[in-house]
Amino acid sequence: MASSDFIVVILAAGKGTRLRSDRAKVLHRAAGRSLVEHAVRACRPLGARAVVAVVGHQAAQVTAIVEPFGVRSVVQQPQRGTGHAMLVARKAAGRTRYALVLPGDAPLVRAETLRGLVRAHADGNAAATILSANLADPTGYGRIMRKSDGSVAAIVEQSALLDDQRGITEINSSIYCFTLEKLWPCLGQLRPANVHRELYLTDAIALLNQKGETVLAHVAGDSQEVLGCNTRAEIAAADEILLRRKRDALMDAGVTIYQPDSVRIEADVEIDCDTVIEPAVQVLGKTRIGANCLIRTGSVIADSVLGDGVTVKPYSIITASRLAKGATVGPFAHLRDGAELKPGARVGNYVEVKKSTLAEGVKAMHLSYIGDAKIGADTNVGAGTITCNYDGVRKNPTTIGKRVFVGSNTALVAPVKVGDGAYIAAGSTITENVPADALGIARGHQETKPGWARARRRELAAAAKPSRKRKPRRTPRPAKRSKKRR
Ligand code: UD1
Ligand code: CA
Repeated sequence: MASSDFIVVILAAGKGTRLRSDRAKVLHRAAGRSLVEHAVRACRPLGARAVVAVVGHQAAQVTAIVEPFGVRSVVQQPQRGTGHAMLVARKAAGRTRYALVLPGDAPLVRAETLRGLVRAHADGNAAATILSANLADPTGYGRIMRKSDGSVAAIVEQSALLDDQRGITEINSSIYCFTLEKLWPCLGQLRPANVHRELYLTDAIALLNQKGETVLAHVAGDSQEVLGCNTRAEIAAADEILLRRKRDALMDAGVTIYQPDSVRIEADVEIDCDTVIEPAVQVLGKTRIGANCLIRTGSVIADSVLGDGVTVKPYSIITASRLAKGATVGPFAHLRDGAELKPGARVGNYVEVKKSTLAEGVKAMHLSYIGDAKIGADTNVGAGTITCNYDGVRKNPTTIGKRVFVGSNTALVAPVKVGDGAYIAAGSTITENVPADALGIARGHQETKPGWARARRRELAAAAKPSRKRKPRRTPRPAKRSKKRR
């Protein structure tokens, strides 16, 4: 079948009542992608003349997902069933000869399987070819009624099954190829004679038969591929299958994944070879990880880009951030909202970095908050350094130059600048700019009182003794002495 001969119609207008959700069914996600996006991606490699999505519930959101793939939407309002949905696509189909129809809630079908169906339809010279599958538990699906010659007489929905039809395990996947000039007249004859008062596309099969047309069923080699997602449990099952496929593909491409069943790597993630993923790691969204990285246990990385040779130590959380080649983070680090680590920068335990850039060789190894900051190359950020970026109204920037030494427990009250090569004394609260090569020190002077602690201990010990004859004190009272000195 030439690609100009067929269009794809994705039925994606339904609400998905069985999910008990405010969101339309096809917007629910499996392996990080919406169900409808899985459908679009599966049919794209076939190179059909056009892909049309029938949208209805939350039409704008569904359209926003499919549009970037060059898919055109047509609106079905109200939603009167799968047969009605197909009718809504009629104008968009024009005079195209065939249509490959798929539901928006079957995210597991592969392009290769769809190609096989299209081929079988063209070869079989049928009016309709149904992708079917044999399921151990066919409950809920429409069943395929075969004739003695092997062709299909009808599809019977679960609710309409007669007792002697319940044993049939061959189900309708809701994926079909139709010869459109034969289909359209049948759709006009559909009647809502069912529990839901809808026009069922499945009823078109019996109508085609009555007209003497041939309907075939093409059995999917892998019955898993046809599973629909009508319930939360079915979405979870599809998610699991998609994730396993993803991990298998990555391992085939040279990524090491230990205890793979404990690891979640979503469909859009890219990982280069010789990267090692430890157990219980999650890599989500549009994350891209380079080669030779080590992602240690318990870490969660979402929508981020990691260069080659990056190390993420255990239990680090990284979202919407960029880590260049050789950067190291964690354990227990939190990088978010535009954190950027240049090559070889290091962030240690209990350090949070938000919307900040750490240049080459910067080290922030312990217990810090770095927000809205720019830090120059080879600067050392001491333990417990905090950028006080929020003044209760707005977020203010902190700019630190190159080769700066920021002493431990420094508070940098933004907006504030520290020049190249400057030195900040530990424990400082920096509220004014520190010029290049200067020392910034901002803290109270220390007072030391020799013997004070020993005297206090003795005092306390004496007070605790129940004796009446108290020895004269040999050291003065600490309290009095300190009073005098002030
Ligand atoms: C459908 C089939 C059933 C098949 C099963 C496979 C019918 C009547 N039944 O049942 O034989 O075994 O799929 O998963 O077709 N939709 C619209 N507009 C509507 C109604 C539905 O666009 O008015 C869309 C839905 O968004 C969904 C798809 O069509 O993506 C299938 O509808 P759904 O309600 O899930 O049908 P099932 O009950 O699963
Ligand atoms: Ca369904």
